[in-house]
Amino acid sequence: MFAEIEPRAVDPIMAMMAAFRADPRELKVDLIVGVYKDDEGRVPVMRAVKGAEAKTLKTEETKTYVGIAGDAELNKRTPEMLLGVDHPAIAAGRVGAVQTVGGSGALRVACDLIASTRPGATVWVSKPTWANHVPVAQAAGLTIKEYPYFRASDRGLDFDGMIACLRDEVQPGDVVLLHACCHNPTGVDLKPAQWEEITKVIVDKGLFPFVDCAYQGLGKGMDEDVTGLRHLAAHVPQMLLASSFSKNFGIYRERTGGLTVLAESPEQLGPVMAQLNATIRSNYSMPPNHGARIVAEVMADPELHADWIAELTEVRERIAKMRQELRQKLEERQVTVDLSFVTDQVGMFSYTGFTPEQVQMVREEYGIYMAKDGRINIAALSSSNIDHVADGFAAALR
Ligand code: LMR
Repeated sequence: MFAEIEPRAVDPIMAMMAAFRADPRELKVDLIVGVYKDDEGRVPVMRAVKGAEAKTLKTEETKTYVGIAGDAELNKRTPEMLLGVDHPAIAAGRVGAVQTVGGSGALRVACDLIASTRPGATVWVSKPTWANHVPVAQAAGLTIKEYPYFRASDRGLDFDGMIACLRDEVQPGDVVLLHACCHNPTGVDLKPAQWEEITKVIVDKGLFPFVDCAYQGLGKGMDEDVTGLRHLAAHVPQMLLASSFSKNFGIYRERTGGLTVLAESPEQLGPVMAQLNATIRSNYSMPPNHGARIVAEVMADPELHADWIAELTEVRERIAKMRQELRQKLEERQVTVDLSFVTDQVGMFSYTGFTPEQVQMVREEYGIYMAKDGRINIAALSSSNIDHVADGFAAALR
């Protein structure tokens, strides 16, 4: 059996992390994976998370099974956080959610659901998209196609290309995977008016929207980051929405996410949720509980909630500050490239547009590690590494 297994490439983000760990140099900077680091380079546990954990430790009386769909309180809160408590689709009873094993678990469960009803369906992803989107969808047997998204010339959005593709090439019933905010890997987001145009095409052509929301609150704010998503959800008959609490609660290793379903009617929602439960049961049976309890606890407790929002605001502001500082330091080094992309892009990531040779040069000569495609984690910049990073980037950009 095992002799037939061919060697295969490791996930590019994970491979780069291993290369960073193996690098013996003292002066090295890790801008690879999407985790938030404070100015001391720590990936902190948020205060509200600590508070919720302390509370859970005191009050928890059993470790018995919770169930296939996970924590019921969380499953009520997830769509409310994403769509807003007073969203018409929620009020109409058209929305349901299950807890998943992180955002990736939500993506996989969603893809399995799609494959169970439309085997081999086509999923359109942005060019480029998160490194794991394609393997997850392909593992579920879905077909991948790409719509234009990033424009290399100005490191911005090729909206004309994107909308033309959706209008002319994507077929009715095809699935369109959109990033709700803080696009990974580019940091280039759709503006509210562009979400409106896309919504119109999706509705007119009968496309199936599938949204990935992994960074709510890391861009402009908890509500601001999902303005476009909420507009879309208010106009489409059906939608799948994968979300993650890894980043906005900093609970990466707890693997806590959700899959929200928007059905045409409460009657249609029932069978979809039953199918989802069957998908989960045959896969990992039930999700873990700890992270879900923390999120539900924080959401339900006004004091913890206020503290979480305050800390998330600090996180967001530090990321924005690092963008400003990186731009300023590159300008000071007289880089001739238009640097507005550094501050225009949103969220944890910035797409430098570096060629593979430039990525390799800054890694080899400066010990600065980023994803292979030139994506950097802005949230890993700090007052102690930003000058060195600016030196390396300026050398690459000159
Ligand atoms: C990232 O893109 O860096 C994160 O979402 C972590 C991961 O699993 O790739």
